[in-house]
Amino acid sequence: MLQKSYILSALILLSSFFYSCKKSSSEVSHAPRKISFNEDWQFFLGDSSKMASSGAQWRTLNVPHDWSIEGEFSPKHPAGVGGGALPGGLGWYKKKFSLAAKDSTRLTAVTFDGVYQDSKVWINGKYLGNRPNGYIGFQYDLTLFLHYGNEPNEILVKVNNAHQPNSRWYSGSGIYRNVWLTKTDKLHVPLWGTFVTTPQVSRDSALIQVEARLVNQYRSVKNGILETSLIYRDQQVNLVASEFEIQAQDTSEVTQQIKVLQPQLWSTEDPQLYSVVTRIKVGGEVVDEYTTKFGIRDFTFDLEKGFILNGEQLKIKGVNNHHDLGPLGAAVNKRAIERQLEIMKEMGVNGIRTAHNPPAPELLELTDEMGFIVMAESFDMWENAKTANDYSNFWDEWHERDVKDMLLRDRNHPSIFIWSIGNEVPEQWSERGAEIGRELARITKEFDPTRPVTAGMNPPVHTNEDDVTLQFDEPQQPNALAGSGALDLIGYNYAHQTWPKHQVNFPQPPFIATETTSALATRGFYEFPSDTTKIWPVRWDIPFDGGNPDHTISAFDQVRTPWGSTHETTWKIIKKHEFLSGFYIWTGFDYLGEPTPYGWPSRSSYFGIVDLAGFPKDTYYMYKSEWTNEPVLHILPHWNWEEGQIVDVWAYYNKADEVELFLNGETMGTKKKQGDDLHVMWRFPFKKGILRAVSKKDGKVVLEKEVRTAGEPAKLTIQPDRSSIKADGQDLSFITVNITDENGIIAPRANNVVHFEVTGGGKIEAVASGDPTSHESFKGTSHSALNGKVLVVIRAGKEAGPVEVTATANGLQKATTTINLE
Ligand code: GAL
Repeated sequence: MLQKSYILSALILLSSFFYSCKKSSSEVSHAPRKISFNEDWQFFLGDSSKMASSGAQWRTLNVPHDWSIEGEFSPKHPAGVGGGALPGGLGWYKKKFSLAAKDSTRLTAVTFDGVYQDSKVWINGKYLGNRPNGYIGFQYDLTLFLHYGNEPNEILVKVNNAHQPNSRWYSGSGIYRNVWLTKTDKLHVPLWGTFVTTPQVSRDSALIQVEARLVNQYRSVKNGILETSLIYRDQQVNLVASEFEIQAQDTSEVTQQIKVLQPQLWSTEDPQLYSVVTRIKVGGEVVDEYTTKFGIRDFTFDLEKGFILNGEQLKIKGVNNHHDLGPLGAAVNKRAIERQLEIMKEMGVNGIRTAHNPPAPELLELTDEMGFIVMAESFDMWENAKTANDYSNFWDEWHERDVKDMLLRDRNHPSIFIWSIGNEVPEQWSERGAEIGRELARITKEFDPTRPVTAGMNPPVHTNEDDVTLQFDEPQQPNALAGSGALDLIGYNYAHQTWPKHQVNFPQPPFIATETTSALATRGFYEFPSDTTKIWPVRWDIPFDGGNPDHTISAFDQVRTPWGSTHETTWKIIKKHEFLSGFYIWTGFDYLGEPTPYGWPSRSSYFGIVDLAGFPKDTYYMYKSEWTNEPVLHILPHWNWEEGQIVDVWAYYNKADEVELFLNGETMGTKKKQGDDLHVMWRFPFKKGILRAVSKKDGKVVLEKEVRTAGEPAKLTIQPDRSSIKADGQDLSFITVNITDENGIIAPRANNVVHFEVTGGGKIEAVASGDPTSHESFKGTSHSALNGKVLVVIRAGKEAGPVEVTATANGLQKATTTINLE
């Protein structure tokens, strides 16, 4: 029988306000509950008959691991709107491990943060279970089946990603997120066993409520004290304690409240974090300790004023990202995620939508620490399939559990502000969609009543006088999910023309643009004239036979999908209307798969503001000029054209009234942004030489920028993002190699093959250029540049010392850099 005892420790709470707060949390010293279980797995790719044969070749590796990224691009599994890019398959992982005899009195569990997909797990030959969803974390209790002392244990994991297609984007395959081993007392807080909320928040004080679940797996009643410390910057600031009693083999829930004076509020600019440490004490001894990080903030979505955080209006300037880490594939690496977020933050982004699935826990740790408004999404489809073998096959049996587990795992993250229950699900047009929407909203509210629920829907207005490309042959029904009452925020993907009319269409609830833009570009490639917009493809349902034979797309902000809009158009609308709380652009980074508008041989997307290697395209600077306080002056394109050719020059700038452009010292005129425009443009015949832009405020120079005509490629330059990294086997240095002429000017069309050599205790983790058509392996030691740039990623080993990285290319002067492992 499950007994729930709610003990609100009001008296203890009052006394605790005056509890001396000087004690440091470092007083507590226990063996960690949770240890990494990532090292020394054996991996085998193939079916079970081959796996079981005596000659089967198992490879030793560490997880997180994605076997797909090691595969070959092939027309047999082309990237398209139905996924692909690299092969799936069937994979096996096994690992031997020993446990000390003293562990036999404790409980031992294994936690997988995510396995793509449909995993089955066995321990010492005993079957533990199956988890179809590739993005959900799960845990198995191993205790009953373990050996202690000298006899080793073996865990075996089968990963079934053989049924393709099952995703509209590159999923990766394998144990691609972290694995943990947890050892606890039989009396403990279980996995995801706390819920921390802040029912009252002001600048003067905040009330923190901690709900903790306690599990007693002993055969006897347990009594004790549940002590909860509030920690800020490693110092205990308050403490509460309550008594508990739990029957044998039972569960109890304890609710405590703690007050904090002058709380340090979490915000995107200053993301202050607290934690609560929950200790279970029996007979004065701490038997279990569980830490929960959280933040104190107050927010609302207002019909008139949009999003309000801690009393201040804040436009959500977000991006969508898939979970892949470009050339690293899906294999989670915290530094690689951090680098992506740093690049976004520098552009002024303050929001991330986890399109279209629960993310790695590390992403949320980082968004908490770095300050992003996260829209966490659960599904890309419900019971109706989008691709033949997708999650819809598992929907009936699993959706309730998967949503619940996502909420339990992630609801303490202060960076999460919105739950999205699905993306463009086909059911949205029918009453069935409204029904499922209400069910998912009910589950969400049950486990987290503190955040609004939305969904990324398609707008009901399908014919639009302003834009012929939006027209469908058949008029569509109204969006039943939008009208279901399930949603606290109406979330629409695209149809930017309809946003200003939202208040008319929906007097309430408030609006969020869940997904926007879908504009297209190849980094460093430009076409003239730049001021005509191209719609590629012409309509979503008409196959594309246009474009460029080499599958390039101009990086002037001039190419978009028919459902999307250019970057500039989109942001102008969001910026203009106060009631529009914000938007999430499709996408921050290019990703593997979905190379719209092209098909094979393209294999990755063109949507990113930043390419697959992490190099910004030009619109990055439009956003930066709008969204940051840093002075920006960015001019495009490069300066290598045909003599006399008519070219356009654009400048993105801020903090200035005007920009004057000079060609070889001669003025080409001064331009000011007109109306709500976000760039200026000049048009004139090309002459090689030096193009110089000068931005001025009140006649005073703010910034100067130059682009010069490059000569023939002659040299390589090399620049790591960080030249000191941790010798922990995990850390990465992302190294940019440019191809330049003999004067160091980037050769803007160079695509030479660059080779990499590494000496010392690091290794090449990946190579990439951002070219969506390249079929070179990301796991090689060489890669062609795209428009003068190529990336090599070095992974640290575990021994300190220098690592020398040398880039060479036929006929070019080589370049070397040193990375220190510390
Ligand atoms: C949206 C969809 C995204 C992506 C995008 C490409 O409709 O939600 O997952 O496919 O289109 O433009």
